[in-house]
Amino acid sequence: MQYKPLIIANWKMNPQSLVEAKRLFGSVKKGLRNIKRTEVVICPPSVYLSDIKNQAAGIKLGSQNCFWEEKGAFTGEISAVMLKKIGCQYVIIGHSERREIFKETDEMINQKLKAVIKTGLKPILCIGETGEEKEQEKIVSVFKKQIKIALSGVAKSKISKSGFCIAYEPIWAIGSGEACGIDEAMSAKLLIQKILISFLGKSLTKKIPILYGGSVTSKNARDFIDEAGMNGLLIGGASLNSQEFIKIVKIVF
Ligand code: PGA
Repeated sequence: MQYKPLIIANWKMNPQSLVEAKRLFGSVKKGLRNIKRTEVVICPPSVYLSDIKNQAAGIKLGSQNCFWEEKGAFTGEISAVMLKKIGCQYVIIGHSERREIFKETDEMINQKLKAVIKTGLKPILCIGETGEEKEQEKIVSVFKKQIKIALSGVAKSKISKSGFCIAYEPIWAIGSGEACGIDEAMSAKLLIQKILISFLGKSLTKKIPILYGGSVTSKNARDFIDEAGMNGLLIGGASLNSQEFIKIVKIVF
């Protein structure tokens, strides 16, 4: 199955002001004016979403997180419904920083996934192993657990319609400048697909894009797509430099 490659910018908790956020977005938008063969999604901090939305044009907006309840006494949280109303189309779920720093469990991620799908937003589920798990050759069991729990109780028909995708982000590669090797990324993709087939069957698995994230730059971006067969990229650090990000999006073709 051919996908329109998905390039997602995860700005994390950057930049520090709305002025800078608008400048960064404006510059990316200008550089990518005529890009039609790639789906480009920017995930800024939530406080910038509505301002950026007004400038969005062809670029899609995503959130870096969401809460699973729709409303109520959940101080500090933002619901998928709110994100949809403000113009988001995608939500990153289970990023390793959320898992590690904010102690999100696979069960919480499962609830978030259900809320995102129910709201009609596209979930980007992040999975990946730590350096230690890699050394101990635990990748298979780590992936299985993360995928199985995240998808538990979610109807196949809902996954199929949701635009669900998985981002493979080896934790040791995030922000480290040490990206995953191309062969390793290729085997990770095959392993993820094998696990997905066991839960969802072949035909649905074929429709699920698998992205790579972790120290992607304009130097390695193309190899992840062409050589490792990834269907897109999730970009952190390099997405904060508009020229580098534009270069990555252009280089993928
Ligand atoms: P990085 O981050 O590109 O800075 O490694 C990727 C991510 O955390 O999604």
